[in-house]
Amino acid sequence: MSLPITQSQIPPGIIDLGAGEPHQSVFPLEMIHRAAEERFSQGDPSFLQYGAEQGDGYFRLALTKFLSRSYGLPMNPEDIFITAGISSALDLLCTLFTQAGDTIFMEETTYFVAPRIFADHHLKIIPIEMDENGLMIESLEENLKRFKPKFLYTIPIHHNPTGSTLTEARRARLIELSQQFDFLILADEVYQLLSYTDDSPKPFAAHTGAKAENIISLGSFSKILAPGLRLGWIQAHPKRIKRLVTSGLLDSGGGMNPFTSAIVRSAIESGDLEKHVHYLIETYRPRLQKMDMCLAQHLPDITYTIPKGGYFFWLRLPRQIDAIELRQQAKAFKVDFRQGALFSSTVGSQNHIRLCFAHYDEEHIEEGILRLRECLKTR
Ligand SMILES: Cc1ncc(COP(=O)(O)O)c(C=O)c1O
Repeated sequence: MSLPITQSQIPPGIIDLGAGEPHQSVFPLEMIHRAAEERFSQGDPSFLQYGAEQGDGYFRLALTKFLSRSYGLPMNPEDIFITAGISSALDLLCTLFTQAGDTIFMEETTYFVAPRIFADHHLKIIPIEMDENGLMIESLEENLKRFKPKFLYTIPIHHNPTGSTLTEARRARLIELSQQFDFLILADEVYQLLSYTDDSPKPFAAHTGAKAENIISLGSFSKILAPGLRLGWIQAHPKRIKRLVTSGLLDSGGGMNPFTSAIVRSAIESGDLEKHVHYLIETYRPRLQKMDMCLAQHLPDITYTIPKGGYFFWLRLPRQIDAIELRQQAKAFKVDFRQGALFSSTVGSQNHIRLCFAHYDEEHIEEGILRLRECLKTR
């Protein structure tokens, strides 16, 4: 009998350029082992107890120092709430800040499983258009004339799937609009720390201070350490943190993942996490460059904007090619990807595909693109 052991399983022999999770080879097994040993050696079993609702204070302090250095921003542990990752944070935010039937805004296109969470809460989703600079403010303003959203869910940096980053000017206008029309901005900043150039905008976390009550910045260890940890954080105004901390879920179960938090605390305090993020950046940057080179060389009819971080290339195929059909054909060439329509709530982006440059090494990236070229030759 074979039992499933991970969420994603790539069939043997296939190069799945669509796979959006880190490859197991980058998981720092030794580092987590060291961190756990350090924590267990302290003789303090408190991390096996129900945890403080907001998250362990020492962990929040360590995380705040790490984020302050990485973001280049002053930060306060009181503005941080520990989560079990962004997915669970979104679920909790929907529970606390929406009711069934409420309207929310989301980018067209978006991280394809987020709408599943919103659907579980019976929310009405209105898509907001995007271009290569992220969410389009005109589309947002148009929709604000007709709808009153509880929140906007946005991926403002190194977007999944498009790779785009919201410009500073759009960020400023978005914040103004959120105040004027009183909706929350749920900024999914999962790829903020995976920036491969020096010109990335500061995270929305920079604006969660006294004035910006409507901004909720979501972070996660899934892409900078390991998704199996199920650990992340929310950074928000104290008023929002207070609501999170007083939820029934936390009241009953205590803070999220105190055990994992304690281990990750050691990894932060030793400086290992910072080194690991550096290693990831140095690993992924050449993969991005390799994918760009291979696409330009082998698939000249395809257009795209080069991403500056994160995981993804978003390719526009020649107009007549339907990505779902292409994906069927690609099976014979032992290559896979994700069709654009998967990320669309309007069944748009039919001639787009998402490729991930982070999952495979350079050799596999080239081989995958060559297989894709052979598949496209049949069209
Ligand atoms: C944009 C985005 N948000 C959230 C997640 C999932 O985050 P977590 O593992 O913290 O739930 C992913 C994972 O691919 C993602 O791409």
